[in-house]
Amino acid sequence: MSGDKKYKIAVMPGDGTGPEVVREGLKVLEAISKKCGFKYEKVMYDFGGERYKKTKEVLPDSALEEFKKTDAIYLGAIGHPDVKPGILEKGLLLKLRFSLKQYINLRPVKLYPGVWTPIKDKGPEDIDFVVVRENNEGLYVGEGEFIKKGTKDEIALQVSRNTRVGVERCIRFAFEYTKKRNKKKHLTLCGKTNVLTYAWDLWERTFYEVAKEYPGIKTDYTHVDATCMWMVKNPEWFDVIVTDNMFGDIITDLGAMIQGGMGIAAGGNLNPEGVSMFEPIGGSAPKYTGKNVINPLAAICALSMLLDEIGEEKASKMIENSVMKVTTKLKSLAAGKMGYSTTEVGDLVVKYL
Ligand code: IPM
Ligand code: MN
Repeated sequence: MSGDKKYKIAVMPGDGTGPEVVREGLKVLEAISKKCGFKYEKVMYDFGGERYKKTKEVLPDSALEEFKKTDAIYLGAIGHPDVKPGILEKGLLLKLRFSLKQYINLRPVKLYPGVWTPIKDKGPEDIDFVVVRENNEGLYVGEGEFIKKGTKDEIALQVSRNTRVGVERCIRFAFEYTKKRNKKKHLTLCGKTNVLTYAWDLWERTFYEVAKEYPGIKTDYTHVDATCMWMVKNPEWFDVIVTDNMFGDIITDLGAMIQGGMGIAAGGNLNPEGVSMFEPIGGSAPKYTGKNVINPLAAICALSMLLDEIGEEKASKMIENSVMKVTTKLKSLAAGKMGYSTTEVGDLVVKYL
């Protein structure tokens, strides 16, 4: 980084175990900034279930404006047992993703050394791919209606909105990412062309049109159901998968499981032209809250992704390398079974930086 630039990072620890894992992430950030010599300032936000319960406020527009002036957002977890499902998800997480135009959800699925995977006979050399999930459209736009609600003839419509612009920018991102990743140079489109003949017609046409600009990248297509099958049977076939919002949501939970569980799975909500947000994808895990047993590695991996995005590639890589040492020391990645506490795992990551 040049000159006196100081990164401004919005930190939203959120609910449940969010604050515990973010604390470890910030511990690692402090240590790596000293090692790599960059400066940053954190701005803390207390949005989430507790604040909503007290004030009925989920996310004011003024906060959105403040976020737009930051370099990145670091999020812990959203979800509170006393708050009706949907309120925080829509009012906070999805609102941020949509308002800040974070149109890509990037989810690496990588099995680190020493990590147990439920897939027999597969190791780190077999499980290393990335899912590029469209993050602003599809079924997540919340379009739809009830017809004759409450009657025996009730109909509920839920619309998947796919725009050419939205689909194309996602696909373009995926091609560029596959090129930059420089591994198998293989991009798979995951969809459902055999049934969802409007949405996936658009996706498929756009995919093969853009593909013409990337002769160096091998392309193929798999239906989403078959993708699930291959992710379990032959995960080594994948390099980068691009898909829509809903399918991406589903297959990345499967991805998280084959890479060792929610304790390690991280993701980035990217606006390549704006402010991006990084999060462990595991949720708030209320039952482990406050016990110092939750695994902070997913949050630490999210921090590593954040640093890569803002231009601190070396720091990002150093954190990932340290995480790869720490995974060989833990008994398990599961909460309460690591053989170490949450804070001790954070300390280990700092130690191996
Ligand atoms: C995720 C989550 C969210 C989603 C929920 C909490 C709205 O499952 O980030 O994958 O569906 O995108
Ligand atoms: Mn999900």
